[in-house]
Amino acid sequence: MTRVVDMIERKRDGGLLDADDIRNLIAAYTRDEVPDYQMSALLMAIYLKGMTPAELAPWTDAMLRSGDVLDLSHIPGIKVDKHSTGGVGDKISLPLAPLVAACGVKVPMVSGRGLGHTGGTLDKLESIPGFSTQQTTERFIELVKDIGLGLIGQTAQIAPADKRIYALRDVTGTVSSIPLISSSIMSKKLAEGIDALVLDVKVGSGAFMTTIEDARILAKTMVGIGEKMGKKVVALLTNMDEPLGQAIGNALEVRESIEVLQNKGPADIRALTLELAHEMLRLGGKDPALAEKALADGSGLKKFAEIIEAQGGDPKVCEDLDRLPKAQFTEPLCAEKSGYIQAVDTKEVGIGALVLGAGREKKEDAIDPGVGLMLKKRVGDKIEAGEPLMIIHHNKTGLDAAKKRLLAAYKIGAEKPVQKPLILDRIASEN
Ligand code: URA
Repeated sequence: MTRVVDMIERKRDGGLLDADDIRNLIAAYTRDEVPDYQMSALLMAIYLKGMTPAELAPWTDAMLRSGDVLDLSHIPGIKVDKHSTGGVGDKISLPLAPLVAACGVKVPMVSGRGLGHTGGTLDKLESIPGFSTQQTTERFIELVKDIGLGLIGQTAQIAPADKRIYALRDVTGTVSSIPLISSSIMSKKLAEGIDALVLDVKVGSGAFMTTIEDARILAKTMVGIGEKMGKKVVALLTNMDEPLGQAIGNALEVRESIEVLQNKGPADIRALTLELAHEMLRLGGKDPALAEKALADGSGLKKFAEIIEAQGGDPKVCEDLDRLPKAQFTEPLCAEKSGYIQAVDTKEVGIGALVLGAGREKKEDAIDPGVGLMLKKRVGDKIEAGEPLMIIHHNKTGLDAAKKRLLAAYKIGAEKPVQKPLILDRIASEN
């Protein structure tokens, strides 16, 4: 195999990596034969120089084949999953997966942890007392077959290379790269045995893609990878110029997700959950209108309680939200001037929650499940000086640093801003 240092230097200098070298490198890294510092340096070189399609194809394929590629063809029906490129307050997978499963489409879902300033589905789920996202492949298949969904993280069997590279990217400033995001998402998704996939590609100040042009390239890249593998893929480009819903932070987001399944919850979360559910149901050959029905009749909530129990968690959280972990202290953060909320630097809001303990600074850091933010105002709302912008839920860690960032993240002015639509575009595979 070519020396890793030679590969790093080639990429650093704008050269192309050889397909066999890429495959060998990913396999060796998965076997623990390449140290994190060399992989980190290579990831930074890729972040800065990008990857051509001829490099991205073997990179994604090697990540996908770093573990097992599941075959769920013995389970009747079309298997459909959804994945987001990452946002702030983006808890949509939590209400969406059980809602769609309750409508009869099988949802095998392999998710990730918090990444950069964004939260991760696994960290959110693990804030439910007892819930385990670490299930064997056999158990995952059983869950999908018997309950209609499974909510797990990568294991030694499913895309382990992504699990390790993802954790490195999180703490090395190498997240917002089109080839690294596409290969990370598509390797996990293609390993989990799906027939079709819905992608939520976030655009804006809280997303890894801040412009619609970059988001379109990312969406087309992922749709193209899926298409080549014979999967139907639909990507929605959605607004991330402000956090989704009111809750940011793990247990707070689980609480808000359960409220959505109780047919309540913030309007934007409900709307996006339903839009994505319609796409998944269409791909799964079902009537999209079933989604509204499963919200109204409580079958989505019942399905969530069922999967929580099956994965070792406390299903009673679905009736009694106070069983979820809570921070010890709450404190309002108040506006310093009056006017309209004109814009939010959403990434800064995500980092504000992270420094309280909702995310990681280093790979081995533990998450504090109860901390986070409950937003009181959205873009376009009027606010008076001294009125709360949000309530901070904290355990004293990082409070002053968070307050400083959070106040600076809000732009308040005299003009009411023009509101952006939630769905900005839709890109679908040819098949
Ligand atoms: N979600 C992932 O799984 N990977 C990324 O790189 C970004 C979002």
